[in-house]
Amino acid sequence: MSENRDRLIERAGIGLLAIGGLLVLVAVVFGVLIAIGVGDESADPQQPGPAAGEPGGPTLRALAGPRRLLVGAAVPVEALKGDASYARTLAREYNALTPENAMKWDTIHPERNRYDFAPADSIVRFARAHDMAVRGHTLVWYRQVPSWVTDRSWTRPELEQVLHDHIRRVVGHYRGKIAQWDVVNEAFDSEGKLRDSIWMRVIGPEYIDLAFRWAHEADPDAKLFYNDYDLEFPGAKARAVMAFVRDLQRRGVPIDGVGIQAHELTVRPPSRKELQSALRGYAGLGLDVGITELDVGIYLPTSAAKLDEQAAVYSDVLDACLAVSRCGSFVTWGFTDKYSWIPSELPGFGDALPFDANYAPKPAFTALRRGLARGHP
Ligand code: GLA
Repeated sequence: MSENRDRLIERAGIGLLAIGGLLVLVAVVFGVLIAIGVGDESADPQQPGPAAGEPGGPTLRALAGPRRLLVGAAVPVEALKGDASYARTLAREYNALTPENAMKWDTIHPERNRYDFAPADSIVRFARAHDMAVRGHTLVWYRQVPSWVTDRSWTRPELEQVLHDHIRRVVGHYRGKIAQWDVVNEAFDSEGKLRDSIWMRVIGPEYIDLAFRWAHEADPDAKLFYNDYDLEFPGAKARAVMAFVRDLQRRGVPIDGVGIQAHELTVRPPSRKELQSALRGYAGLGLDVGITELDVGIYLPTSAAKLDEQAAVYSDVLDACLAVSRCGSFVTWGFTDKYSWIPSELPGFGDALPFDANYAPKPAFTALRRGLARGHP
C-alpha cells in the first residue's frame, strides 16, 4: 500500500474533521435558505459545467514560455493514444510532460533481460513533435518495481549491477531528450527516515549516491532531481530531506534539483508561506526546484464553492513557484479529471485537475492562466 496515499487519507481526515463543524453550520444556513426558497444552482454537481471546448485566450504555455517556466502534466500513454481531445489539449496548453508510468521499472524493464521502451518512446516522440520538454520519472523508487527484482535475494554487488545496468540503459536510451530526471523518488518515509526498500536493504543508503552518479554518467546534460511528497509541510520529513540533500551536495553527488510533488487536498492545503519557504530553502542551497506532481483533490460531491477553493490552492502553489526564480517547473499530475489517480486511490475525493472530464476548463485553469499572466505575485 502506498504511504503517499495513507498520509493523504490521514490529512483528509484531519481536514474533514476541522471542517466538520463548519459543515454543520453550513447545513443549517442552507436549510434556512431552502426553507425561504433561495436555490443555489451553481452548487449542484448535476448541473452541466461550462461548455466543452477550447478556453479561448492565451494558452498556459504561451504565458509560461517567456518566463522560461516549464508548465507540464503527467501523461498516461493510453490517453495519448486513444483520445484525440486529450492529445489536442495537452499539446495546446503545455510545454512539458512527465510520463505517468511508462518510465517506471515495471513498465520499462519488466524482465531482467527485457526492456520495453515502446510506451515511453511514444510519449517522448509526442513531446518532441510538439516542442515540449520531458521530465523523466523515475529511476529508483520503492514502488512499481517488478517481482524479478523484489522477489529474490541479491548480494550487494549483484543488485548494484542490476541498478547500474538499468540506469545506464534507460538514461542512455533517452540521452539528450530528457530535461530533468527524477533520479530517486520518495526515499524518505513520513517520519523522516530512509524508508525500507529492496535498494535500502541490499545496498544501503549509498544506493542514492550511486543512482545520481550513474545517471550523470549516462546523460551529463540532464538535470538530476530528488523527488518527494510533503516537503512543503514543515516537520520531521521536510527537515530530514533538506539535511540529506545538503549532505549529498557536500559529498559532491551530482544533484541539480529537488521536486516537490504537491499532491494536495482542498480540505487541508499548505499555506503560501509554507510552500514558499520550502521552495526558497532548496533554492538557497543553489539547487533548482520544481512543483512536479500537483493535483488538488476535492471531497466529493463537487460544488461551485469547492471549485473556487481548489482554484485558490492551485493559485497559491503557482504563486509560490513564480516567487522563486529557481522554480523552473510547474507540473500537474494529469490535467483532466477524466484520467486521475485520485478517485481510485483516495475514495471520496476526486475532480483534482484543472480541466473537467470533458476538457472544459475549471476555475483552477482560469486561476493558473491569471497567475501566469500576472507573474511574480
Ligand atoms: C507518487 C509517484 C507518482 C504517482 C503518484 C500517484 O507521487 O511519484 O509516480 O504514482 O504517486 O500514484
